[in-house]
Amino acid sequence: MDLLRQRILKEGIVLDGNILKVDSFINHQIDPVLAYEIGLEFYKRFSDLKIDKVLTIETSGIAFALFTAYHFRVPLVFAKKHQGKNMLEDVYCSKVYSYTKEKEYTISVSCRYVYPGDRILLVDDFLANGQALLGLIDIAKQAGASVLGAGIVIEKGFQPGGKVLRNQGIRLESLVVIDSFKDRKIIFREDEK
Ligand code: G4P
Repeated sequence: MDLLRQRILKEGIVLDGNILKVDSFINHQIDPVLAYEIGLEFYKRFSDLKIDKVLTIETSGIAFALFTAYHFRVPLVFAKKHQGKNMLEDVYCSKVYSYTKEKEYTISVSCRYVYPGDRILLVDDFLANGQALLGLIDIAKQAGASVLGAGIVIEKGFQPGGKVLRNQGIRLESLVVIDSFKDRKIIFREDEK
């Protein structure tokens, strides 16, 4: 997606540890026009599918998942990382290990919002090691729902998540794939052709 690529080149900052800082339009401040276009792009790429629900994980995936759900005219459900007092009902849970933060956390989704037979599209902002998406797939499985695809805004192609998910047969659509941060320069997959 050229619009996104240009924005990353203009505002993205490569930090130590192969982390791309995109706080000015994705992870802290969010550009609603870009988020709308991203949702539309996912809608176009998955328009051959009959989707019942979009599923993401809090926090940064929500904006992109919301616009995707808007275009499909279906609900957005986000997995919670913190169990609030108002979540006393039955929940599906999965443990997710974050390599970036070096800790394990539990994600949960109420049984009231994902049903057996639901056709689910996953959406998230980053795909790195893939642990967050694997957690969402686990929750869908527990609910008896099926995951028809996953839309990713930025895939870090040099980390294993993309391969792990594609090997599981997940239809993955990444709007940009970054192959490396060579001398802090962002190299997109197509650049290497
Ligand atoms: P995984 O989800 O693919 O397994 O990745 P990992 O455990 O390595 O990442 C943990 C968190 O860091 C995730 O967000 C993920 O989106 C984010 N992340 C990974 N690589 C980058 C990067 O290069 N740049 C940025 N900006 N984020 C990255 P999270 O903790 O769930 O955060 P949030 O959604 O609550 O904001």
